[in-house]
Amino acid sequence: MNKINIAIDGPAGAGKSTVAKQVARDLDYTYIDTGAMYRALAWKALQSQADIQDGEALSALLESMDLTLSYTAEGNRIFVDNEEVTNMVRSNEVTASVSQVSLHAGVREQMVKKQQELAKAKGTVLDGRDIGTTVLPHAELKVFLTASVEERARRRHLENVENGRESNFETIKQDIQTRDEKDSSRLVSPLTKAADAVEMDTTELTAEQAAMRICSIAKERIKKL
Ligand code: CDP
Ligand code: CDP
Repeated sequence: MNKINIAIDGPAGAGKSTVAKQVARDLDYTYIDTGAMYRALAWKALQSQADIQDGEALSALLESMDLTLSYTAEGNRIFVDNEEVTNMVRSNEVTASVSQVSLHAGVREQMVKKQQELAKAKGTVLDGRDIGTTVLPHAELKVFLTASVEERARRRHLENVENGRESNFETIKQDIQTRDEKDSSRLVSPLTKAADAVEMDTTELTAEQAAMRICSIAKERIKKL
């Protein structure tokens, strides 16, 4: 059967990675978590005490690092210089610095190249902030997932509690708003809905319902190829 590429973008906590993973499982596609790639660089920068305001230093750091992903049914495993950092990149410290790390043009240029390379063969689902606009501008299906900020903060808070991470609803909501603002206002490939993306508000939808809707649109698009 013909395969397509699917781009899923949206703000923090909209359900992108949960939904993208489900869609990839249902269609037997490969899921690529581009946010985890930026998080891996932020983790490395914190580890090596790099100045996260310094775009040149971060670009050089990214160039020198071996950043790889492996795919499993549960999602991507992330490795930096052969060390697994899958869980570490979800820490509050990384979350607090990743939007600053990801706004530098030199960093984004390298990341976009890596992501395009990973999505070279059709049959991939990528989630992030700039997939439909910059990484895969010709993706056959683009989805922009949203949800109210209260609902997104509630989801993240629950997820933290379930994973035994320190969490406070108001702090999470504040962090999400700050990150959304930073991601939406940066000069290079800001978070924005691609003109040809399908917008889906998931405030009242479960991840399964959102994934089912996306799969049914994907199947329609595949039929038309
Ligand atoms: O899962 P969550 O929405 O919290 O974030 P993520 O998808 O892991 O992305 C973490 C951060 O990486 C975002 O807040 C952006 O600053 C950056 N990012 C980006 O700039 N471009 C992407 N394609 C993906 C993530
Ligand atoms: O990737 P993104 O930051 O957009 O969100 P996520 O990490 O996929 O989802 C954040 C949390 O919300 C996860 O714990 C999901 O299980 C949950 N979720 C939900 O409760 N309802 C949805 N419709 C989507 C996600």
